[in-house]
Amino acid sequence: MAEVAPANAESTEAWSGPLFERFVRFRPYVAEGLGRHGEAAMAAHPPRPGDRVLDIGCGFGDTTRRLAGLVGEKGLAVGVDVSQPFVQLAMEEAEAEGLANVDYFVGDVQIADLGGPFDYVFSRMGVMFFANPVQALRNVRRAMRPGGRTVFVVWRRKLDNGWVHEAEQVVERYLEHPEETEEPTCGPGPFSMANADTVSEQMAIAGFAAIELRRCDLPLTMGADLDGAVDLVMSIGPAGEVLRLWGDRADEIRPTITAEIRGVLEQYETEDGVVAPSSTWIVSAVAPDV
Ligand SMILES: C[S@@+](CC[C@H](N)C(=O)[O-])C[C@H]1O[C@@H](n2cnc3c(N)ncnc32)[C@H](O)[C@@H]1O
Repeated sequence: MAEVAPANAESTEAWSGPLFERFVRFRPYVAEGLGRHGEAAMAAHPPRPGDRVLDIGCGFGDTTRRLAGLVGEKGLAVGVDVSQPFVQLAMEEAEAEGLANVDYFVGDVQIADLGGPFDYVFSRMGVMFFANPVQALRNVRRAMRPGGRTVFVVWRRKLDNGWVHEAEQVVERYLEHPEETEEPTCGPGPFSMANADTVSEQMAIAGFAAIELRRCDLPLTMGADLDGAVDLVMSIGPAGEVLRLWGDRADEIRPTITAEIRGVLEQYETEDGVVAPSSTWIVSAVAPDV
């Protein structure tokens, strides 16, 4: 077991258990929906052939493998994640593909020895869950070559991500965030870096320079049909999180919530499934000479 900062123990439990299981269940939509944003970030700030790359909170490790392709066989792509089952799966899949320039390890980015020095550090939705973001970002910066670049994809504000926000508003009409729960929570949460000023400040305090935020708006497929999309937002994201924390105590109200969420998601039904607008920041910065 890798060492985890005490304040990240609870989210590690969540990402290694219930959230891992949910991400596996919705993997095709996670890979495609987040994939578009990840590709846009890599296109805006590509790594160079031969770079040594770190992929933070790599999850299934698909982005790590993609980065390995971009840096080529003279480069190296390393994925790190605090969740052992995610890393296990990522390693098995890289091995099955016979990739030689990919590696993964289990670690809490806030405190782990990340190795390096890395020329390029990427993350697709893997930097929003640290209990102490500045400590984690500083740890990342220390593992970078001076002049190296970070490229992070994080959610922008909920208002521009109606696909999760509208479902969350439905749930909030009936259930508050429970004060008492047996379930581990995922940490600060997926929207914790949505505020441009906050993220810029966190990056600056962690020692990064040339910090830039670029807005990225892309369609996101939530499901093949309405039932699938309702299942997704009631399982992952802010609405899913509150429902998970309530567990079977929410069983009585669940059919009402399901029907109302179905109603709000109807607007996103298309011939190609349920497709909604989604919005992220591509956060890029440079590790300065120190
Ligand atoms: C929303 S998922 C994104 C996964 C993947 N990057 C993707 O785009 O599919 C967030 C990931 O961050 C990881 N994570 C959360 N806290 C972490 C920490 N302290 N150190 C390393 N990884 C962490 C989780 O285990 C999870 O795999």
